[in-house]
Amino acid sequence: MKILAKNGDTLEILANPEEEILERGDYLTIEDGGKTLLAQVIDIEYADVPGVLEDALRELSSEDFVDSSSIDPYSLGSVIANIRDARLVIAKVRGVVMNGELRNDVLWLPSRFRSKISKTPPSLIMELSKSIGRRNILIGECMGGWISITAEALDGALTIITGKKEMGKSHLAKMLVVNLVEYGAKVMVLDINGEYVGLSRKIDGGESEISRKLFILTPGENFRVSLSETGLRTMLDILKYVYETPTASLREFSRAWYIVEKLNGKISLRGLVEAISKIQMNESIRDALLSRLQSIESLEFFNDSGDFSLQEFLSKLSYGAALIIDLSKTSPQGRRVVVEYLLSKLSSMLKDESIPPLFLVAEEAHLYLRETYWDDLVTRMRHIGVFPIFVTNQPDMIPDSVYRQADNIFIFNFTNDSDLDYLAKASRVDAETVKKIVKNLPPRRCLVIGKVVNDLPIVVKTRSLPLVTMGETKLYFNVEKTYLSLRD
Ligand SMILES: Nc1ncnc2c1ncn2[C@@H]1O[C@H](COP(=O)(O)OP(=O)(O)OP(=O)(O)O)[C@@H](O)[C@H]1O
Ligand SMILES: [Mg+2]
Repeated sequence: MKILAKNGDTLEILANPEEEILERGDYLTIEDGGKTLLAQVIDIEYADVPGVLEDALRELSSEDFVDSSSIDPYSLGSVIANIRDARLVIAKVRGVVMNGELRNDVLWLPSRFRSKISKTPPSLIMELSKSIGRRNILIGECMGGWISITAEALDGALTIITGKKEMGKSHLAKMLVVNLVEYGAKVMVLDINGEYVGLSRKIDGGESEISRKLFILTPGENFRVSLSETGLRTMLDILKYVYETPTASLREFSRAWYIVEKLNGKISLRGLVEAISKIQMNESIRDALLSRLQSIESLEFFNDSGDFSLQEFLSKLSYGAALIIDLSKTSPQGRRVVVEYLLSKLSSMLKDESIPPLFLVAEEAHLYLRETYWDDLVTRMRHIGVFPIFVTNQPDMIPDSVYRQADNIFIFNFTNDSDLDYLAKASRVDAETVKKIVKNLPPRRCLVIGKVVNDLPIVVKTRSLPLVTMGETKLYFNVEKTYLSLRD
C-alpha cells in the first residue's frame, strides 16, 4: 500500500487488489522513521488510473475473439491488470502514536514512498482505546483482539445505544447491566419489553450469578404505592404532565389534598375522591378531576393499603443490584405515570442523599419520558447521581442536545439516510465516518464512540452472554410449530 494523497483528515491510499481484505472501521498503521500515523478505513474504491476507460472499452470490444494469454509472451498482463485494477482505500487520520499515546495535535506526515502501511495489531488498538479505570467490562472483539471498556468510563456519564431493530442493542445493554452490577453498582432498568427478567437464568437453565441481585418490580402486581408515599408534588406532576390538567384544577386538587390530610390524618385515593365530590368547587373542574382520578385508580398502581416504599427498598439493596421495572404489561399511560413517579422520587431521594447514585437504563424512553425530562436527566439529575443509558431504535426521538452531551455512543446498523444524517450531525465524530461505517455494519457489530474507547472510534463485534437475554421477536411460524406439535 502507498499513500496517494491527503485532503484534510482524509487519506487516500493506493492498494493492490490482492492485498489483505479490509473491513470498514479497521485501523492502519503507517510507519516511517520510528513514528506511526494511525488511520481508520472508512471506504474502498477503484483508483482512478489514467487510460482505464479506454483500456476497458478496448477489452470489451475484443473480448469475444482474442485469447489474451496467446499474445502476452512475457506475462506482463497480470502486472498491467493489477495496476488497472488498483484500489483506493479511504481512511481518516486519527492521530500520531507517540510514547504509547495517540496525539492529534502533532503535525507529522509519513513519506509517501518509504512508509510501511499495515493493519494495526489488535494489541495497539486495545492499548490506545483503553479508558481510565480498572473495572474492566469485556464487550467484544475488534480486528481479532478482545476489547474491554471500563465501568469507570460509564460512571457519571450519559450513554446512548442506538441502531435499527434486532441489531443487538438490548443485548449490549444487558451486558453492561450485568457487569455494572457485578462491580457493585445499582442499576434501575425501565424494561419496556419485559426482557431483562431473563438475566436471572443461564442459557443451560441454571440460576445465574446475578439472579440474587436482580429484583423485578411489576407495576400493579408487586409494585403498588400509596398516595402518602407518593406525595403531593409527584401527584401534581402526574396530573399536570400525564393527564394535562390545567393549573386551576391543580390548585383545587391541592386544596382537596390538604383537607383530606387534615380530616383523616392520612391521604388516600378514596378519601380524595370523596372530598372532591363534596367540597365546593367549579363543576367542570370537579368533573375533570374526578375523571382523572378514576383513570389513575384503574391503573391499580396506587393502592391505599400498600406499604411499599421505594426509598426503603433502594436503601436496603446490598452492594450491586439491578432493579428491573417490568413495564411490558402496563398501558402507555400507566407507563408514563410509573416513570413520573420513579423519576420524581429518585430526584428527591438523591438530592437529600438518602440513596447512592445509580445507573438508569431506559429502553425506548420517548414512549414514556416527558419532553422536559430529557434535559433534566442529562443536566440536573446527572449532577445529583442518575447516570442514564438510553437505548433506542428511533434516534430522532432523542433531542440532539442530548446527543451533544453524550459521553459514549454505541451505534449499530442504520440504513435509513435520515437516521444517519441525524446521528452524523449530533455525534462526537466526523459525519463521514458515521455514515460510511454505520450503514454497512452487520448485526451485532457497533461503532463505539466516546470516553469508553478513549475517543478512538472503533467497530466492535459484541460478545455473546451465557445468560437468557430474551431479545427474540416472537415469530408466528415458530408459535405455529409449537402449537402444531402440541396438537399431535
Ligand atoms: N453478540 C451477540 N451474541 C449472541 N446473540 C446476540 C448478540 N447480540 C444480539 N444477539 C441476539 O440477537 C437478537 C436481537 O438482539 P437484541 O434484542 O439485542 O436486538 P435489539 O437491537 O435490542 O432489537 P429491538 O430494537 O427489536 O429491541 C436477540 O435474540 C439477542 O439475544
Ligand atoms: Mg431491544
